[in-house]
Amino acid sequence: MSDNKATLNVPGRDPIDLDIYSGTLGPDVVDVSALTSQGLFTYDPGFVSTGSCESKITFIDGNKGQLLHRGYPIDQLAEHSNYLETCYLLLYGELPTRDQYNEFSGIITRHTMVHEQIRTFFQGFRRDAHPMAIMCGVVGALSAFYHDSLDISDEEHRKIAAFRLIAKMPTLAAMSYKFSIGQPFVYPDNSRDYAENFLHMMFGNPCEESKIDPALSKAMDRIFLLHADHEQNASTSAVRLTGSSGANPFACIAAGIAALWGPAHGGANEAVLEMLEEIGDESNIDTFIDRAKDKDDPFRLMGFGHRVYKNFDPRAKVMRESCDEVLEVLGMEDDPLFRIARRLEKIALEDEYFIEKKLYPNVDFYSGIILKALGIPVNMFTVIFATGRTVGWIAHWHEMISGEYRIGRPRQLYTGSVQRDYKDFSKRK
Ligand code: CMC
Repeated sequence: MSDNKATLNVPGRDPIDLDIYSGTLGPDVVDVSALTSQGLFTYDPGFVSTGSCESKITFIDGNKGQLLHRGYPIDQLAEHSNYLETCYLLLYGELPTRDQYNEFSGIITRHTMVHEQIRTFFQGFRRDAHPMAIMCGVVGALSAFYHDSLDISDEEHRKIAAFRLIAKMPTLAAMSYKFSIGQPFVYPDNSRDYAENFLHMMFGNPCEESKIDPALSKAMDRIFLLHADHEQNASTSAVRLTGSSGANPFACIAAGIAALWGPAHGGANEAVLEMLEEIGDESNIDTFIDRAKDKDDPFRLMGFGHRVYKNFDPRAKVMRESCDEVLEVLGMEDDPLFRIARRLEKIALEDEYFIEKKLYPNVDFYSGIILKALGIPVNMFTVIFATGRTVGWIAHWHEMISGEYRIGRPRQLYTGSVQRDYKDFSKRK
């Protein structure tokens, strides 16, 4: 209950008092949960004005371009922290001491292998399956392999499931790639750190020692870190909604992966590269800009705009720096595709349409470019997003399960037929 109230006046009804709550940051929220007992619902397609839960994990102020994990700004984490430390922060709420960090990274490292039978499970997929299709299936199927961490009411089970998911996602991601190109799976090498190990499993082979440039594994780590969490987006909401029914964590994360796959969400980094390839030459950029502005053309500039950030995407700022570093390390500044990306970025930032609608390059614009430069195939981009985001999904799932929650059940504004009687074929037009 709150002393702060809003009053809703609905014609023909007595005024309804609604509690107003204040968070530690962000706008006040009006608690509309009492409306249903008055025979009313709210209507909010796309949930743009709806807070679905209380959370202490991540805060975003889209107008200020601010993203905080447990209070820490994303640019500070990107500069001083690493992915595993950020995982710890998201899961436990505080930065770890050195001992806690060593213990946590040791646990994650020792969970990187997958059950040996999962290797045979992969053989059931078509060779040309999209790696995201494989990930939806394999991650959901982890619940068939790890029965000892499925009891969601047991804190220990929840913890082990979290460690397993964070540790095994890079292994499964790399396996889905190796499978698609017909190369043998590469076992994790626990002497390498999280990001380096992923690149080793992606690009190594059993016949020779793989050498990963530290600058590239640092860039990979940063990509994981910058994707680690983003509060109640479509995939995280899918994880929470699935978890609210009591589903096991592996099934919940599979739901998140499915939601992430779409081009308006995690699929955007893949769509960015496809778009750059379609543009093909700097001389075609103007045509594509015109198409993006044409209301009758469904084409949109992929990697531009964001539902929440209407100023700039703070992750994109850091990712842009990483992008410059990677292109320099790889000597790819003059690659034609990347030159198109640079020109497109410049034009869109100066164009009245994009400025007025506050459409800035988002994190996926730059992550797509970096991943391409690292030699990662385009259809793996969203898999990498999913790998980094797993910790965010798990942190939100854990926060929900550890507190009070109810099964998620949105309502609707029904505009279909009123009740009518069934007709035989002979009476139908
Ligand atoms: N290119 C051209 N016009 C655009 C674009 C774009 N990329 N994005 C939005 N608009 C226009 C849109 O047509 C609309 O115009 P009008 O007001 O004249 O109808 C206006 O800007 C507002 O767009 P909206 O669709 O109402 O905005 P939204 O908040 O619902 O959508 C978005 C956000 C990210 C889905 C959208 O900007 C988009 O489709 N961007 C391209 C895909 C993309 O890069 N997605 C990755 C998002 S970041 C990764 C993540 O967090 O998942």
